[in-house]
Amino acid sequence: MPTLLVTGGCGFIGANFIRWQLQTHADQKVVNLDKLTYAGNPENLADVASDPRYVFEHGDICDREFVDRVLKDHQPDLVVNFAAESHVDRSILDSGPFVRTNIVGTQILMDACRAVGTQRYLQVSTDEVYGSLGAEGFFTEETPLAPNSPYSASKAAADLLVRGYVHTFGFPAVITRCSNNYGPYQFPEKLIPLFISNALKDQALPVYGTGHNVRDWIHVLDHGRGIDAALRRGRVGEVYNFGGHSEVRNIDLTLTLLELLGKPKTLIKYVTDRPGHDLRYAIDCAKAETELGWKPQYNFRDGLRETIDWYLANTAWIDRIKSGEYRKYYEQQYGGRL
Ligand code: NAD
Ligand code: DAU
Repeated sequence: MPTLLVTGGCGFIGANFIRWQLQTHADQKVVNLDKLTYAGNPENLADVASDPRYVFEHGDICDREFVDRVLKDHQPDLVVNFAAESHVDRSILDSGPFVRTNIVGTQILMDACRAVGTQRYLQVSTDEVYGSLGAEGFFTEETPLAPNSPYSASKAAADLLVRGYVHTFGFPAVITRCSNNYGPYQFPEKLIPLFISNALKDQALPVYGTGHNVRDWIHVLDHGRGIDAALRRGRVGEVYNFGGHSEVRNIDLTLTLLELLGKPKTLIKYVTDRPGHDLRYAIDCAKAETELGWKPQYNFRDGLRETIDWYLANTAWIDRIKSGEYRKYYEQQYGGRL
């Protein structure tokens, strides 16, 4: 049975990806290597934990001995690296963990893959490595890297390291760069789950700056299908962009969320802007559509309704997160803004 190693599988995208892999590829073992940082929640995979094809390895991708041991024990054919510090605001407060996990972790993981002869490695990157767009245009795979935050700079650095390994060692890697994901199990520090959970409790929705910043939203399962296609059918050394063809201004998204939740606009609170806040992301995914035969399947409004329904049915999941480390962190950093 072939083995797929996923790092960061207890986070938002990784957990959705692993569940979909187990449903879609029956004859495959999935190993999940995760450190369980504040964002890693084993509860996100509780329903598959007893599947005999699923194995959890608790540890840090920066721990060379541990990573070498996991790779030797499981000899994965395929590896997908989701493990990362993923939140831009946290990278502004402290970039240390971002440099460590996102760059050093990638290097350690790739070295371990080389040692066991992994057939294919996929680096999960982000559209934020391209920087910011003005009112017009789209990011293509040829857009120069111009990251603007410590988070995106650490992701761009990892992408360059992957590129260096492909060219120097013939390392069989592909890179994917995706826009903003939404869907179930997203940690409630990110815009959509934060605003849903605040609105449900009649708490303020903190819109940064003017609210005119634009993001291109894609359902997490559309992203997961794209990663699977690039992993199995992508060309070594190539980059593939994924987006949802769903550009929305933050303020318009906020108004839609309030409308769908039946909550008043008075919950909107304009707050100080994020330093270095990128204005607009928009993706040209023609390469993935042509080469990989991939297309986003979700319509944003339908996906958003489905996502809201999931959070409404899982308020206890959010409460458990918000009553713990998450709340203490935000209260310290933002003076109890939430
Ligand atoms: P997340 O923060 O929800 O999850 C990250 C996971 O990585 C957690 O389970 C965490 O425990 C684990 N992790 C962190 N540091 C680790 C370490 N040192 N060793 C092992 N595990 C570690 O993140 P996400 O939103 O699911 O994003 C996953 C990946 O996708 C990231 O690489 C991110 O850059 C990328 N990405 C995210 C988005 C998005 O919209 N969320 C879009 C494009 C790309
Ligand atoms: O584009 C892909 C990226 O999308 C990923 O690489 C990142 O891992 C992921 O976190 C996400 O980054 P963003 O910074 O775009 O996501 P976030 O949900 O933090 O913010 C979305 C937009 O909403 C952004 O313009 C900032 C704004 N925002 C965010 C928060 C948390 C607010 O106005 N208020 C908020 O409280």
